Amino acid sequence: MNPEWEEFACWGCRRLGLRWEGFRHVFGQVRKRIYRRLRQLDLASPADYRRFIENNPWELDHLAFCFRITISRFFRERPVWEALEKVVLPELVQRLTARGERTLRAWSLGCASGEEPYSLAMLWHSGPLRSALALRILATDVDPRLLERAARARYPQGSLREVPDPILQRCFSKQADQFRVRPAVTRYVQFRLQNWRDHSPEEGPFHLIFCRYLVFTYADIALQEQFLEEVAASLHPLGWLVVGQKETLPARALVQWKQGPLPALWQRRRKEGDQP
Ligand SMILES: C[S@@+](CC[C@H](N)C(=O)[O-])C[C@H]1O[C@@H](n2cnc3c(N)ncnc32)[C@H](O)[C@@H]1O
Repeated sequence: MNPEWEEFACWGCRRLGLRWEGFRHVFGQVRKRIYRRLRQLDLASPADYRRFIENNPWELDHLAFCFRITISRFFRERPVWEALEKVVLPELVQRLTARGERTLRAWSLGCASGEEPYSLAMLWHSGPLRSALALRILATDVDPRLLERAARARYPQGSLREVPDPILQRCFSKQADQFRVRPAVTRYVQFRLQNWRDHSPEEGPFHLIFCRYLVFTYADIALQEQFLEEVAASLHPLGWLVVGQKETLPARALVQWKQGPLPALWQRRRKEGDQP
C-alpha cells in the first residue's frame, strides 16, 4: 500500500481504538469510503483529511463509519454450525433442561443484515431440539441501514452459498431474484441498534454469544480484553462464546477460557466453588 495511505490508516486505527492488522486484507473497502468523503469535503489527500479531523473532532464518527467492515453470509464457516448442531447444542439443551430452564438465550453482536442470527434460528427451527426449549435471539449492530435490511429479511443468492440444502428448502421462499426468510424463522430474532462499546444488553445471561469478525479482528488488544470481561459477565456458566475460525482470544485472557471442539468455540473455565 502506498505509504501515505498506510500512515493514515495506522493513525485512524489508533484514534478509533482499532487494530491495523485486522484491516490489511480488507482496506480497499475502507479506502473507497474515505475517497468518497474526500470528494464530499473537497479535500485532496488522506493527510488533508487527517488535518480536517483534528480540527473537527465530530468527524471521528464518520471515520468510524469508514472503518466498518460489513461482510457476512448465512452459515459462514459451515464447520462451526455443524459443531453447534451436533455437539454444542444437544449437550447444552440437555444440561439446561436438567436444571429446569425453559429458554435458550442467544446474542449475536455485530449481526450485519441478520445472516448470523437467522442461521442460528434456522438450525434450531429445522432440528429436533426446538421442542425442548424456547429460543430467543437478540441481534445487535451499530449500523441502522443493516438492521433495516435484516428486518426485511430478503437476500441475494450470493449470501446463501453455505446454506445446507434442506434448510434452504425449508426456511426460505423465493421471490423474483431474492430469497426471503420465512416468518416461522424470523420470529425467533429481535434486532436492536447497539454499539458494543457502550454496554451489554440486560437480557442475559446468554447461553450463546456470537461475536465473529468484529471485536477480535478489528479492536485493539486492550479493548478486546475489556470487552471479554463484559462478555464473561453476560455469559451463562454453561454458555459458549462463538468467535470466527480465524480469530483467537487475547493471550492474557486464555487462563480464564478453554477451547471447545473447534478453535471458534470457547467456554469459561470453572473456578473452584462454581456450580457444575
Ligand atoms: C464483518 S461484519 C461480521 C458480521 C457477522 N458477525 C459475521 O461474522 O458474518 C461486522 C459487523 O459489525 C458491525 N459493527 C462494527 N462496529 C460496531 C460497533 N461498534 N458496535 C456494533 N456493531 C458494530 C458492522 O456494522 C458489521 O455488521
